[in-house]
Amino acid sequence: MKTKTKSLIQLSLFAVFILFLGFRMDNSAVSTTEMTLIQKKNSSNLNDKGFGPIKEVKLGPINQRLVDKGNDIFNDKCSACHNIDDVNLAPPLRGVTKILSPVFIMNYLMNTKENQQKDGYVKSLMAQWKKVPVMKDQKLKEADARAVLEFLRTKN
Ligand code: HEC
Repeated sequence: MKTKTKSLIQLSLFAVFILFLGFRMDNSAVSTTEMTLIQKKNSSNLNDKGFGPIKEVKLGPINQRLVDKGNDIFNDKCSACHNIDDVNLAPPLRGVTKILSPVFIMNYLMNTKENQQKDGYVKSLMAQWKKVPVMKDQKLKEADARAVLEFLRTKN
């Protein structure tokens, strides 16, 4: 009886130790990028259309020509601050089309400043990234904003 209790205690201690180890490994495995993505998941904003001229976007299957154009615009105008996967000066952009509506993304890229002034989600984002200058007004033309959106759709 005594040895049974003893081995039971040993077993439970071992289990607690393993749990602790798992927890530690879990924690250290979470990179800043993953943290940002977790934050993203919790701040899903798909109903927000933002402020700007776009009221509706019809999405079809991925259009590779548009993706390529969007990729060029991204390299030219966005990559100084944004990476797709890692934190640069600004949030990584992988997965943004899961949490932001197409209408919102286009309005934000065409009309950044007004959204920074009025949109609750953008304001909270600015508060999170306050060590960085806010995103400058991108003033993209509609066709360019649409191309960037298509590019971001492939980075999910
Ligand atoms: C000067 C640096 C800078 C440039 C250039 C820039 N951004 Fe940003 N971006 C930011 C910052 C900082 C934020 C956080 C919110 C804010 O400041 O408006 C942000 C936020 C975003 C978000 C929201 C991300 C999220 O997690 O919800 C998207 C989408 C975005 N930018 C796309 C772009 C695209 C596309 C371009 C290029 C056309 C671009 N940005 C150019 C700095 C920049």
